[in-house]
Amino acid sequence: MTTVPPPAPGGSPTPAPATIRAQDLVKMFGPIRAVDGISFELAPGRIYGLLGPNGSGKTTLIRLLTGMGRATAGRAEVLGTAMPSRAVLARVGYMTQSDGIYPALTAGENVRFFGELYGVTDATAPEDALAVVDLADRRDAVVATLSGGQRRRLSLACALVHRPPVLFLDEPTVGVDPLLRVQFWSHFRRLADGGVTIVVSSHVMDEADRCDELLFMRSGRVIARGSGRDLRARAGTDDLEQAFLRFSGNVAATR
Ligand SMILES: Nc1ncnc2c1ncn2[C@@H]1O[C@H](COP(=O)(O)OP(=O)(O)O)[C@@H](O)[C@H]1O
Ligand SMILES: [Mg+2]
Repeated sequence: MTTVPPPAPGGSPTPAPATIRAQDLVKMFGPIRAVDGISFELAPGRIYGLLGPNGSGKTTLIRLLTGMGRATAGRAEVLGTAMPSRAVLARVGYMTQSDGIYPALTAGENVRFFGELYGVTDATAPEDALAVVDLADRRDAVVATLSGGQRRRLSLACALVHRPPVLFLDEPTVGVDPLLRVQFWSHFRRLADGGVTIVVSSHVMDEADRCDELLFMRSGRVIARGSGRDLRARAGTDDLEQAFLRFSGNVAATR
């Protein structure tokens, strides 16, 4: 016998369950609190921007969320599972800040390698991933002969090859030319529209408005969260850079 749940009583839709959850996350490197007590929940199908200066803890936070780094305290959860988790890793894409691709292999060999690592069975997936980043015609080029921008694109292809529902991109557009940047962002948007949760870090504010929500980071903490419009309004300025500084000032004042 099958039981069909009754339709929810009209009105309030249930909020989407979080795909990513941080609970009082702390990461110490000796005396340095690289991540200093971060808690949040991120919903599926949205693009979240981690924005903060160099050293504010963006990479460390991403490493905790992907299970690449172990938290000193607190809990990181992805798709309902505590990280690190081998099973969840296959459903997460991670583009590291420094390209994690193999310089002695060709572009095509790299995507195929990452595909195999993630257990991809669809033979067209590596070629699709190369096409997305406009590198199909460079598939037989050895990585060492690619430009910096081409390597960034290849890194993205390697992070996408297994079509993960959760994607972490650590400064993905650094060294990428403006035209390709636009293409990257429209691809990120298409992925999010398809339900993929994307966390993208940046130390510059100029791409912030492409994110659905921003998390301003400073000294290992999230000092403000909201849409670009919301954060500007709360800080009383049209300039996001200024807004960041105002939220930073508030933090300093309350310490
Ligand atoms: N492996 C490490 N060993 C020691 N300190 C580290 C290590 N990784 C990061 N840190 C320190 O943690 C802080 C946050 O660094 P990071 O997460 O790389 O920031 P961001 O990505 O925002 O530039 C910095 O003070 C950095 O020097
Ligand atoms: Mg970083």
